Amino acid sequence: PASADFVVVANRLPVDVTVADDGTITSERAPGGLVTALAPLMRETDGAWVGWAGTPGLELEPYVDDDIALTPVTLSEQDVELYYEGFSNGTLWPLLHDAVVDPQFHRQWWNAYVAVNRRFATETARTAANGATVWVQDYQLMLVPQLLRTLRPDLRIGFFLHIPFPPPEIFAQLPWRRQVLEGLLGADLIGTQRASDAGNILRSVRRFTDLTTRGHVVTIGGRWTRPDRQVRVDAFPISIDTTAISQLAHSPEIIERAKEIRHDLGDPDVLLLGVDRLDYTKGIGHRLKAFGELLDEGRVSAPGVQLVQVASPSREAVESYRVLRDEVEVTVGRINGDHGALGRAAIHYLHHSYPLEEMVALYRAADVMLVTALRDGMNLVAKEYVAARVDLDGVLVLSEFAGAADELTQAVLVNPHDIDGLKRAIMYAIEMHPREKRRRMRSLRRKVLDNDVQSWAASFLEALRSGVGREQHG
Ligand code: G6P
Repeated sequence: PASADFVVVANRLPVDVTVADDGTITSERAPGGLVTALAPLMRETDGAWVGWAGTPGLELEPYVDDDIALTPVTLSEQDVELYYEGFSNGTLWPLLHDAVVDPQFHRQWWNAYVAVNRRFATETARTAANGATVWVQDYQLMLVPQLLRTLRPDLRIGFFLHIPFPPPEIFAQLPWRRQVLEGLLGADLIGTQRASDAGNILRSVRRFTDLTTRGHVVTIGGRWTRPDRQVRVDAFPISIDTTAISQLAHSPEIIERAKEIRHDLGDPDVLLLGVDRLDYTKGIGHRLKAFGELLDEGRVSAPGVQLVQVASPSREAVESYRVLRDEVEVTVGRINGDHGALGRAAIHYLHHSYPLEEMVALYRAADVMLVTALRDGMNLVAKEYVAARVDLDGVLVLSEFAGAADELTQAVLVNPHDIDGLKRAIMYAIEMHPREKRRRMRSLRRKVLDNDVQSWAASFLEALRSGVGREQHG
């Protein structure tokens, strides 16, 4: 029934669905900032969420989970291979991250991307009530705004890109660059993480479509259903659920667990921490190289200084992710072989994901947080670390190529490609005077606490509802 006034469309549903051997299906709310921010709104407004349950071939009827109506979209094994692993994560993901690994262009992947985007649009058109607000998420669904507009011109459509958008000189490589941009421009409002991402989209629209742009407003030309329609492209930097993290960071169990972590490591003088999805955009290799050289040169030594690297498993069927895993594991093995001792490793490498509780304990245990992404839309780990440091201790080393660097200017900012610079930054963080740590952390916390994920969602939706396109022409 087309009854939802507010529809979120994302590649993934906000649940972890598991199918047991006997066929029993269980669905559990997946923790995540986006659903935390949107859940209250969905309850108030008859909201629905359209997305994939994460298991290839699984067919599910729409159901309600914890007050949110879920509309599952089925992806066959072939869809997963061509649309998800292929075009989304073998073409768009690397291309939009400045082609840090070579994007692959396959017509078959593109065709699957078009077909799956069309299915998401059709499912959404069926779910949305007349005049509803629809919010489409991320690079897996860039064609949905225009496909949906064609099906349902009555809807108000927002799109948010969680990852970066590269300069037109790089985006130019995409054989289907015009189609992707026109797909996006079906939205009334396109949100990006950084102002530079918005600028890059506008410049690509100017170069690769025959639509004209003015400032942050794109004026769509005559062959569209609404000839006078305007699209706004602007930055809305995403954030985290700061309240949840602060609460955890204050809890006695977690403070105790943080102590226990340090104790289990033999109470090092300095604990360095990296937390990433195991992804080649995160600069894990650069971080390991810098730490390895500091150990080689005797500027730090284990077990006095140790690194914990959490690398959560991700997209393991995609070739470039397998290659990365091998590289990282070889490097960790080599460094530990050179610098570890019985029962004492220099690097503790964990290829797992952990619940938020354990992450907050790790954040509180770590003296220095290393975020060395080569390119990152935002990097929420950087914000989580800051939110967890209710004690005003700890130093954040942050790549200037992460979106978070626009706001978190009081971090120790680094260019991760500059290994000597990265080593200097790590030493600076290790040796920083407590007074400077507190001063920086206080300023960082102000930034993060001022803009949590709830206010992010509210400001995007507010801009969408009062959008120029509607006010002037609706
Ligand atoms: C990034 C993307 C998300 C994606 C997440 C996990 O944060 O912006 O759209 O859901 O990574 O990746 P996965 O491929 O497992 O969904």
